Amino acid sequence: KKVFAGVDLGGTKILIVLMDEGGNKLREAETATKASEGADAVIGRIVALLQQLIGPGDRLASIGVATAGTLNADEGIVALASNLGWKDVPLGKKLEESFGVPTSLENDANAAAYGEWAVGAGKGSQDCVYITVSTGIGAGIVSGGKLLRGRDNSAGELGHITLDWNGPKCPCGNVGCVELYASGTAIGRAGQRLAEERPDEAKALLSLAAGEPITSRHISAAAAAGDEAALALLSEAGRALGTGLVSIIHMANPEVIVLGGGASAIGEPLLAPMRKAIADLGIASMADGVRIIAPELGKEAGAIGAALLVANG
Ligand code: BGC
Ligand code: NA
Ligand code: ZN
Repeated sequence: KKVFAGVDLGGTKILIVLMDEGGNKLREAETATKASEGADAVIGRIVALLQQLIGPGDRLASIGVATAGTLNADEGIVALASNLGWKDVPLGKKLEESFGVPTSLENDANAAAYGEWAVGAGKGSQDCVYITVSTGIGAGIVSGGKLLRGRDNSAGELGHITLDWNGPKCPCGNVGCVELYASGTAIGRAGQRLAEERPDEAKALLSLAAGEPITSRHISAAAAAGDEAALALLSEAGRALGTGLVSIIHMANPEVIVLGGGASAIGEPLLAPMRKAIADLGIASMADGVRIIAPELGKEAGAIGAALLVANG
């Protein structure tokens, strides 16, 4: 039977799903990315994993790949993916050569947005924004029942919307970007800075980190235990995230926002200040009715969405 592959290429793992024509997941498999071994080795691992996943009765119809960063979608090239250390890698072209089927590259958050909208938490809505808070911050916008893809499948870069035009330089080239304040990386960095500058306030964090650098995980755990410094750090990040979301609400006028990545997992210490920023700063008629909900597809959202995007044309 006809099957559609979806590949989620992340900085640490590769996840592949096979979907059927009805949008049901048939099988999935996962392996480590090992980006340090170079692009050819990573592509080799994708090819091997997909070959292994395809059964004797399957006829592969297409491949969709979700990856962070910017793309040259028409050429099948990953233009710049800093989480992989990739620049101008012809990933789509190589997969197309290996399997002889149409292959399409999608931004990771856009693919996840499509997945959550088509078969997950956003199902049934017409205007749905998905965001992911992870190493970076990404978003995907479904508008009027259609994913906003942009020229290179790269639309929806919430992480690189400016919050502070006098703010620090972002690796993307812009300044004061949302992801400099609210990503998992930024939250960890803020904790580390606190530990260096005011160690007496960071006692709980330092003891959780046990000599390692402080990460967002330590901060999330300390906040769950009521630590004030951790709560303050997450409150600031939540305010930044909410302020960024106000821009998306004003641009896209969504009815629902799905909070993917680590955001829902961190929970209220991040989400309460985020909601407050939206309530305080958003245009009331646009912001008040927006439903903010947890995702349903979990870590498979990107792979499932990438497969369905190509399958559904
Ligand atoms: C990238 C986006 C991506 C997001 C989440 C950001 O740094 O610019 O393309 O969607 O991280 O991975
Ligand atoms: Na996006
Ligand atoms: Zn940026």
